[in-house]
Amino acid sequence: MDPSSLIDLDRYPIDRLDAPDGRALVDGLRHDLDAGALAFLPGFIRPQALAALVADVEPLFPQAHRRDRMRTPYGWMDNSGFPEDHPRRAMHRNSGRTITRDMLVDESTWPRLFEWPVLTEFVRRVLGFETLHCSADPWLSLEFHIEAENDQLAWHYDTNDGVVSLLLQSPDEGGDFEHVPFLRDENDEHYDEVARVFDGSSERIRRLPLEPGTFALFRGRRSIHRVAPVGHTAKPRLIALFSYDREPGMVFPEATVKAVIDPDDTPHTGTPAS
Ligand SMILES: [Fe+2]
Repeated sequence: MDPSSLIDLDRYPIDRLDAPDGRALVDGLRHDLDAGALAFLPGFIRPQALAALVADVEPLFPQAHRRDRMRTPYGWMDNSGFPEDHPRRAMHRNSGRTITRDMLVDESTWPRLFEWPVLTEFVRRVLGFETLHCSADPWLSLEFHIEAENDQLAWHYDTNDGVVSLLLQSPDEGGDFEHVPFLRDENDEHYDEVARVFDGSSERIRRLPLEPGTFALFRGRRSIHRVAPVGHTAKPRLIALFSYDREPGMVFPEATVKAVIDPDDTPHTGTPAS
């Protein structure tokens, strides 16, 4: 399947970025990213194509890598000197499953969409990088997160500032993407506000009921975020995550890959991509 047939190019002219409407699209999304850390494109994937893309990965659900453990957003730091009620000591459940790129069948449409140069160039312009290449990682360049009933992705910050995702399926209840734009800065973690985020009282939490077919770019290095617990549902939340790098040929460190494909055998100190 030609990648251009999957995307609503009338609404989102990513194949003509130097034309006035293409430039306006990129300018608007860059503004959204700078102002609120999130730029999203509802209806990016055409409805018929969306069903085909879901059908491509659905048979892989039973083989997906399961994760279920408690984690803190500050996992790479020593948190032992903090009072028990301090955000640095707070633990949240992180549970769900991951399909990795190596599991896709040869005829899958996904690699063709991910590696479509038109899409990469569009992402590059929105993120504002001079160069951008698809990750070459055999496992994590293209992954799919599945959150079924009672699953959730714990509050965290990302290690990079350009997570690109495509929401494929929403659960019947819960599972919203929640984030606080630019909560921390280079000098201050703003723990008081983090504590309000964790107890649900923060007025800065944004909850977006994103629709399936939405393409999104997110700056999560300073913007704490999570996928809220999924409620009663017949179908899981399903999202595709695309990894890029400024250099060609990027692969993830072995420990990062192992944390996904063999989570029970790995101390969990890193931060998930999204
Ligand atoms: Fe994230």
